[in-house]
Amino acid sequence: MKFFIDSADIEAIREIKAMGMCDGVTTNPSLMAKAGRKDTDALLKEICAVVQGPVSGEVTALDAEGMVAEGRRLAALDPHLVVKIPTTYAGLQAIATLSGENIRVNATLVFSLNQALLVAKAGAAYVSPFVGRLDDVGEDGMQLISDIVEVYENYEYDTEVIVASVRHPMHVVDSALLGAHIATIPPEVIRKLVAHPLTDKGLAAFMADWETLQGSGS
Ligand code: G3P
Repeated sequence: MKFFIDSADIEAIREIKAMGMCDGVTTNPSLMAKAGRKDTDALLKEICAVVQGPVSGEVTALDAEGMVAEGRRLAALDPHLVVKIPTTYAGLQAIATLSGENIRVNATLVFSLNQALLVAKAGAAYVSPFVGRLDDVGEDGMQLISDIVEVYENYEYDTEVIVASVRHPMHVVDSALLGAHIATIPPEVIRKLVAHPLTDKGLAAFMADWETLQGSGS
């Protein structure tokens, strides 16, 4: 499974890339606001230079024509740029137009199997179902991933499934078990993946025994 980093924090991306855990990056307007950089085009270009893999930048226009114009502009920034388009009626039109021009699109804010079917038919390179936000409203986010993976396999769609709105390590475990192509993971969750109390406890015991050996007479 590929790991994308769900962040616009260039330092965190750099750090995680150096560990070999960053196959791509996804951003959105909220993550851009969190990063606090108004020069978003320059930031996306910096992220592309670090990642050397797919980097999603989201359009902010709400009409199809505006999304297409913004998508073309974003795609021209860097060959790694993937245009993120919200899954609305206007979004579907934009996905079809941009995909027809061989611009890779990541269809975002997906919450149902029908939306996933539509964006695959429109030619999206990626679909981003938001599992955490479905869990938040009492629905089963990972069940949607399971359904999309099954249906895409049934009909041999090329669209890759990006598990998005990942909140905790079990979302990553379940994504891998279900055969999702990609999980896009916030840096703080990446850090949690490596942590285990028995690792810490075992290491502390090894260090204590080592100190005892150093202090012993023989
Ligand atoms: O990948 C989508 C993500 O950025 C949304 O996450 O935690 O705001 O639902 P969240």
